[in-house]
Amino acid sequence: MNVLVIGSGGREHAIVEALSRSPKAPKIYAAPGNAGIAQLAECVAIKDTEVEKLLEFAKANNVELTVVGPEASLAAGVVDAFRAEGLKIFGPTKAAAEIEASKDFAKRLMKKYDVPTADYATFTSFDEAMDYVRKGTLPTVLKYDGLAAGKGVVIATTMEEAEATLRDMLLDTKFGEGRVVIEEFLTGEEFSLMCFVAGNKISAMPVAQDHKRAYDNDEGPNTGGMGAYTELPFVSAEDHAYAMEKIMQRVADAMVEEGVPFTGVLYGGLMKTPQGIKVIEFNARFGDPETEVVLPRLTSDAVDVFTAVAENRAPETEWSEEATLGIVLASKGYPGDYAKGFVIRGTERVESKLYHMGTAMKDGELVTNGGRVMFVVASAPTLREAQQKAREDIAKIECDNLFHRTDIGNKAFK
Ligand code: AMP
Ligand code: GLY
Repeated sequence: MNVLVIGSGGREHAIVEALSRSPKAPKIYAAPGNAGIAQLAECVAIKDTEVEKLLEFAKANNVELTVVGPEASLAAGVVDAFRAEGLKIFGPTKAAAEIEASKDFAKRLMKKYDVPTADYATFTSFDEAMDYVRKGTLPTVLKYDGLAAGKGVVIATTMEEAEATLRDMLLDTKFGEGRVVIEEFLTGEEFSLMCFVAGNKISAMPVAQDHKRAYDNDEGPNTGGMGAYTELPFVSAEDHAYAMEKIMQRVADAMVEEGVPFTGVLYGGLMKTPQGIKVIEFNARFGDPETEVVLPRLTSDAVDVFTAVAENRAPETEWSEEATLGIVLASKGYPGDYAKGFVIRGTERVESKLYHMGTAMKDGELVTNGGRVMFVVASAPTLREAQQKAREDIAKIECDNLFHRTDIGNKAFK
């Protein structure tokens, strides 16, 4: 069986690795893949948004199943294009992916179907937005409406900061044509609940927690994620049942009702607030880096799971009981400017899983080639042991230009 995975990060490495564990031993292609993925799959030089080329490749190589990683591919309409040609593909249509691409779409849907989330209002006018902020309380949450690669959210703690941000988002052209969602500021522990969704049939993956800030103690700028772990002691069985029923199932049903049924992974970015669990955001795809700690726990055949969802059937999933914890190695300077091309040594001594996020091979050596470079993911009977193992393995990797957080998972021990 031939399978194609679209994307090039740690998330796609984890997807490829899960597929490679299938007893069906599929032949895996990755477009474009990366240096780590190349150890398990054949990488083809097609970008994740080159829909026509991806389609041509899939047809020419008898690809029976395609799995989409990045939101950019979804926004480029890859699922629509493959389906139009009768090809099996795991992921939502462009219209269904609006739940991630448009914050306003997501907020309106949640309001209409009574899904718990922060109060909000949407603005295109700078004056009206400022008026609203002045009448409200600080901090206030300002979200640029549109795909902004994680940079579109500003939590303004002063009126000056709010004004400058709204100016950027609504008056300057920096972000393009602007719409801003202004939200009530919520507090509480954040967690990610990803579900396989096939229309109104949903199946939960283990909950995980991302670490978005660059430095220890959640300080520094927001990043694509500096580490993650699963399970989470602060999400009780009751919390989980509530989130599944009142949030994930309700949204799956709502998408069907709205005529944009969802297939693929619906990612709930949730917060356990004093007023109950509320939605911070939805993504229309596997989370990164959560996927890299969640999929190693999948003990079912990943080919069967992805195929079921792509065929609009509920997948049967089983998960190991092990705790899994991962620490990202990032280039110094990330998420700001950083240099590339630094040699990485010692990876062969790592016993944990090692997902590549931004690496390349140069003159036969592994080098840094991105902001987030590698992800060391350890599994163990307890989270403490997993953390210990990940730390030991991180210490084996030698490179002059990498840094990492030392407190990944500590929130579970409070
Ligand atoms: P988002 O891109 O919507 O996930 O936002 C990025 C981060 O901003 C989230 O992970 C939260 O930490 C924070 N955030 C977003 N919305 C809110 C909110 N309403 N209240 C508090 N924090 C928020
Ligand atoms: N971990 C956050 C995301 O995938 O968007």
